[in-house]
Amino acid sequence: MNQKYDYPKTRAQLNQLVADLEQVQTNVHQVHWYMRGKQFFNLHPQMDEFNETFADELDEVAERLISLNGAPFATTHEFIEHTGLPDEKIDFGQYTLPELMQRLVENFRYLRDQFQKAIEITDEENDQPTQDIINGFKSDIDKKIWMLTAYLDESPFSGE
Ligand SMILES: [Fe+2]
Repeated sequence: MNQKYDYPKTRAQLNQLVADLEQVQTNVHQVHWYMRGKQFFNLHPQMDEFNETFADELDEVAERLISLNGAPFATTHEFIEHTGLPDEKIDFGQYTLPELMQRLVENFRYLRDQFQKAIEITDEENDQPTQDIINGFKSDIDKKIWMLTAYLDESPFSGE
């Protein structure tokens, strides 16, 4: 391996993002299926919009990782073993719609922090092209957090 282009910490963090971007889609799908309430017709399709972004980001992160001589996690066992996101079975009516959105805010804030960590690591290892990819993902998740907290009648950083 050409030492000049060896980015071990970046590769590890990209794989962390592979596991987390996979799990966040599972959690968003869970909300899509288990929500009940007055805003169902708005929020049900909104979950699909969220997941379209996460699916694209997952593919881009995994393919960047391969380009850097890495090996992305590609089994459900690996995803669940490495993700820092919750994997909790829920039932209909267990959470109200605002409670489900609050849980998503927490998922998205965790993901935001993982993007930020990737930005800092790519700085350290001088891998600007990867940072270029992740910068956009960070600003996108910031926007999603803003929208969810606005729905909850809160500011983007309230409760943090
Ligand atoms: Fe659906």
